[in-house]
Amino acid sequence: MFKVCVTGAAGRVAQCFIPLLCNGSIFPDKKIILSLLDLNNEPQLKEVNGLKLELTDCNYDNLISISTHTDPNEAFKDCDLIVFIGGFPRKPGMERKDLLKINSKIFTEQGLALKNAKEDVKCLVVANPCNTNAKILYEVCKKNGLKVKKENISSLSRLDQDRAEAIYRQTYNKEDKDKKVNIFIWGNHSSSLFIDTIDEEINKNIENNEEFLKKIQNRGAEIIKAKGSSSTFSAANAARNHLKDWCYGNEKIVSMGIVSEGDYTVTKGLVCSFPIKCKGNWNFEVVKGINLNEGKKARIKKCVEELESEASEIVV
Ligand code: LMR
Repeated sequence: MFKVCVTGAAGRVAQCFIPLLCNGSIFPDKKIILSLLDLNNEPQLKEVNGLKLELTDCNYDNLISISTHTDPNEAFKDCDLIVFIGGFPRKPGMERKDLLKINSKIFTEQGLALKNAKEDVKCLVVANPCNTNAKILYEVCKKNGLKVKKENISSLSRLDQDRAEAIYRQTYNKEDKDKKVNIFIWGNHSSSLFIDTIDEEINKNIENNEEFLKKIQNRGAEIIKAKGSSSTFSAANAARNHLKDWCYGNEKIVSMGIVSEGDYTVTKGLVCSFPIKCKGNWNFEVVKGINLNEGKKARIKKCVEELESEASEIVV
C-alpha cells in the first residue's frame, strides 16, 4: 500500500493529476490509498466530495480507498508521498514570487504537519513559487527537528524541461521527431530559469539563443495570457514525469528542484533546479562535471540571487 496525499484537491491541476495517480500511469506497481486535502470552505468541500464520488466511479484497479480532509495533520497521517499542489494561483501580470506571502503561511503549517507522515515521506511541491515553498518545508522540518530527509523534498522544474524539449523539437527537429532531445533546467521555476544541455548539436542551437530561452522562461505567463488562467494538465503531466523518474529512474538527465548541497556554487540550503540522474528506488544524484563557461556560470548566478532574495522573505 502506498499512501499519497494531494493538497489543493479541489483545484484544476490536482484534478488533472489525480487520475494519473490512480490509473497506474505513475506507479503501475503500487496500490494507492488516496488522501485529499483542501480548504474548509463551501466551494472546496463540494468540489472534493464530488471528486471522491467520481473517483469511485472510475473503478481504478490501483485505487484502494479515498479520504477527504481539511486539516493537514489528518491528511498527512502515515503518508508515503505528498504532492503539494494547493496554493493561491498566479493571475495575469503576476510573477510567481508575488505569491510568496500568500502561500508561505500555508507551507509553514503544512511543513509542521509533516510530523504525522512516515519518516521517509517524499514531498513534491508544485504550488508556486515552488522552489521557495519547498524551502519553507525544509526549513520548518529543520527548525522543528522533524525526521524528513532533505533528499526527500523536491520542487517541480520538469514542466520547464518538458516545455524546452517540446519547443526545441518543434523548432529544430521538424523532420525527425524521433531524434533524442535532452535539455535540463538550472535555477528557479521563474523567468530567470536557465536551460542547458550536454549535447553539442543542441548546445549550438540554444546557447546564446535569447529568443528560445525567453520563450521557455515566459511560457507559464504565455499560457496565463492565452487562457486567462495558469497551466493545468501540462503541470499535472510534468508532476507525473517527475515522480515516475524519481521513483523508478531514467537514463536521461532530468530536472528537479532539490535542496542544494553547494554543487556548482549554488548556496547550500536553497531549493534549486539541477541536472539530475535518477537511479531508481527514489535515489538520485546531481550530475557532476558539467562544463560551464563564464556565460553559463553568470546565468546560474542570477538564478541563485533570485532564490536568495525569495528565501530572505520567508519566516518560519
Ligand atoms: C506554469 O509554469 O505554467 C505554472 O507554474 C503556472 C504559473 O504560474 O506560471
